[in-house]
Amino acid sequence: MKWTRTKRYLPYSAWTAEELLNLQQQAANSNYQFYYHIRPESGLLNDPNGFSFFNNQWHLFYQSFPFGAVHGLKSWFHLVSNDLVHWDRKGLTLKPDSAFDSHGTYSGSAHVIDDKLFLMYTGNVRDKNWTRHPYQNGAWLDKNNHLTKMLHPLFGQPEHTTDHFRDPQLLNINNTYYALLGAQDKDTLTGKIALFRSHDLKKWEDLGYLSFTNNNMGYMIECPNLVFIDGKPTLIFCPQGLNKNITSYDNIYPNVFVIGDTVDLDKSFFSTSQVAPVNLDEGFDVYATQAFNGPDGKAYAISWVGLPDISYPTDKENWAHCLSQVKQLTIKNGQLYQHPVPAMANLRINGRHLSAGNKSHRKVFLMKRSSKHFELKLTIAAQQSGKLHLAADENLTHSLELEFSTTENAFLTVERGRSGISFAENYGTKRSITLPSSKALDLDIFFDNSVCEIFVNNGLNVCTLRVFPKADQNNIILESNRGINYNGTWWNLKKIN
Ligand code: FRU
Repeated sequence: MKWTRTKRYLPYSAWTAEELLNLQQQAANSNYQFYYHIRPESGLLNDPNGFSFFNNQWHLFYQSFPFGAVHGLKSWFHLVSNDLVHWDRKGLTLKPDSAFDSHGTYSGSAHVIDDKLFLMYTGNVRDKNWTRHPYQNGAWLDKNNHLTKMLHPLFGQPEHTTDHFRDPQLLNINNTYYALLGAQDKDTLTGKIALFRSHDLKKWEDLGYLSFTNNNMGYMIECPNLVFIDGKPTLIFCPQGLNKNITSYDNIYPNVFVIGDTVDLDKSFFSTSQVAPVNLDEGFDVYATQAFNGPDGKAYAISWVGLPDISYPTDKENWAHCLSQVKQLTIKNGQLYQHPVPAMANLRINGRHLSAGNKSHRKVFLMKRSSKHFELKLTIAAQQSGKLHLAADENLTHSLELEFSTTENAFLTVERGRSGISFAENYGTKRSITLPSSKALDLDIFFDNSVCEIFVNNGLNVCTLRVFPKADQNNIILESNRGINYNGTWWNLKKIN
């Protein structure tokens, strides 16, 4: 089937219930489907939106095009949870059904105001000439999950940006509302974070761009977030086209963070001693991360595991992508850590303790014919070198290879080039992390059929990636020249989807 523009932007009513059901079944029956990650019910999932805590539950939405694995007419798909792990699907909630969002309800955020959840989002509108008009819109979700859109946009495109102006994050600081938006400056065509202020959500004042760096941030910033992590203001955003001399990255577009010292939004000022943005994730597929401070003051983040402008193997099955697990963010000694939330441990079943038996074995099966939805916590002692093969076939022809050294020149390299169906190879098949010299290496690995999240050294680094192993790639093998000193635990993880 050919995806013309017309087809991608057909009104939802042009698709039959049967077509949608078939797409849902096709996604549900896929070999690559997830057991415990948020997945699209059908079609394509992208950015997480509206991550919030309201009415005693966690709320989350994702960008959804339900009718195929392409970026078409987008809606917000709604989910709720009591523990940030088990999510109940509520369906498409914020749909492109008004003059101010006719070509998609694009990304945005949510904020509790009185007894309602206020959704602030970008209405994508195209005119007859296909010129884009971005509107920043509001909608109210009540406690019965009933949605009412505001009749008029909160504000439109300012003079100083191009039509690339979207993804509002609404914050309330000292009883004042601020919206951070991704933008492209009209004069310089560079990426900016635009800032607006309001006292009543009706009248909005343009505060210009947030000053947070002297570096050029590429040609467009998408999905900006300001979140307070252990008291430190931190920006998380996606600077498309960022020069690789500023921040080195391999993915088509980066998703980065900057830890600040102080922030004064009234002065559009964010001070930082960090020289350059740092990659939030060292893997292949994280983008559009959304973070917010929960009612407990803690910072929570969730990412799209997928990238724009890249084809993925399940496109053929008419569905694409997933969200990461929720990550709790902390800062220790000026460094960002990402942790699984506590309830993730409730998914564990059938734990098996693993430790070095015969140390001289060069090829140790940590698990033989295991499931492909597991957690593996492994500590590798200092002064070891070898390879941990996940999703490995017995003779190691195919595997997701984690090469490590915990010697003086310590590193971890993830190679997915021989891990199954290959894709996105133009952006490299390897990602490397430098590790502290001569220290034990802690890995907490979450595997879920076709997504893998590797938390390194208690979350100081995270490496997230999609992987498409074949059926017989169901072993976990530790390979080395002299045997490896390790211990750990493997758990099967429950199917909750
Ligand atoms: C990022 C993004 C956002 C936009 C949304 C549309 O992936 O391009 O900037 O709001 O996706 O789905």
